[in-house]
Amino acid sequence: MTPSTNPVALSAPNWPRDAWWVAATTAEVGGAPLQRWLLERPVVLYRGASGQVVALDDRCPHRWAPLSLGAVHGDDIACAYHGFRFGPDGRCTRVPTQAAVPGVARVTSYPVVEAGPFVWVWTGDPALAAAALPPPKLGWAVDPSRVTAAGAMTVACNYLALKENVLDLSHFAFVHANTLAVTDWDRPPTVEKTADEVTYHQHYAAAPLPAHYGIPTGIGTERPVDRHAWGSYVGPGLQTAGVDIRDGENAFALRICHATTPIDAGTCLYWWVFSQDYGHGEGAVVALTARITAAFLEDKAILEATEAMVRRDARGRDYIDLSVACDHAGIEARRRVARLVAAEAPASRAA
Ligand code: FES
Ligand SMILES: [Fe+2]
Repeated sequence: MTPSTNPVALSAPNWPRDAWWVAATTAEVGGAPLQRWLLERPVVLYRGASGQVVALDDRCPHRWAPLSLGAVHGDDIACAYHGFRFGPDGRCTRVPTQAAVPGVARVTSYPVVEAGPFVWVWTGDPALAAAALPPPKLGWAVDPSRVTAAGAMTVACNYLALKENVLDLSHFAFVHANTLAVTDWDRPPTVEKTADEVTYHQHYAAAPLPAHYGIPTGIGTERPVDRHAWGSYVGPGLQTAGVDIRDGENAFALRICHATTPIDAGTCLYWWVFSQDYGHGEGAVVALTARITAAFLEDKAILEATEAMVRRDARGRDYIDLSVACDHAGIEARRRVARLVAAEAPASRAA
C-alpha cells in the first residue's frame, strides 16, 4: 500500500444508514409519485391527501414493479402493474382480485421530516429515528426577507468528496477564480470541534472585501472591514456555512447550506441554498442564482473529473493520499462519518 498522510481511509459503502438525509425539496414532493435513489435503494416519495409526505420502498413486493410508476389515492399509492395499494405505513391495503390481503404484503416505510426547504428521510432502523437529533430547520433558507438562491444537481462523485470540497475553501482561488473570485483564502483556517459539529473559522481583520461580498453589501472593495468566514459539518448529510461582515455599526450575514445524499458510491445528490441579508434589488435573486450555479458547476466539474480518473486508473485508491493543514476540517468530518458507520448495528444496514 502506498504511504498516506490521510489518517482516515474509508471503505465503501462509506455512509451511515441511521441518519437523516435530504431526499427532495419540499416543493418537489406533491401528489405525483417521485422516485429517488437514496443510499443504493429506490424510494418513492409522495404527498398524500392529508398533506403528509410519505416515503416507501419503491419496489412493489408483488413482482417488484416500481411503485413510483403508480398513482396516489388519498394517502395510499396504487401499483401501476396489478393495482395493489399501500398505505403510508407501508402495509398493503388492497389486492384488487381478492378480499384477503396477505399479512406479509408490505414495503418499508421510511420516517420523514419536513424541515425548512427540505424533505428528510431516515434510511436506517425506523425505531432509532425518534431518538436522533432532528434535522435542522434552516429557517434563514425560507425567510422571504432575504436574497436567496437555491439549486440542485447530481454529481458523479462520492458524497464525501463533495463534503470535503465545502469544508476546505482553499480551492476558491483556483476553481472559482472567474466566478466568485475570492482569492484571499491564503492560510489554513482554525478548526473547532464540538460533540455534534466540526467548524472551520477564517477571520479577516480590517481587510478589503472581494467584489463577491463588497458589491452586494455596498461596502465596495477598498474599505477595510472585519470578515468571519465559517463552515460546519453538522452531520453526514449536511454542511452549513456563513460569512459575517461587520462595517462599523452595520452587520451583513451570508448563510449557505450544502445537503449531500449518496445515490451510490460514485454518485450523489446535491442541494444548496445561498442566502444573503443584503444585496436586495430588482433581479438580485436571478443574478445571484446564475453566479452561484456557475460556481457550483465548477465544483461539479473538478469532482467528476477526479472521480472518473480514480475509477479508470488501475491503481484505484492505492495511491498516495496527501493531506495538508487546510484539510483538517474535512478529515475530521471523515473521521466522524467513519465512526458512525462503524458503530451502526447490522440491523440498520439491513433495514
Ligand atoms: S407488481 Fe405491484 S401489484 Fe403486481
Ligand atoms: Fe467550490
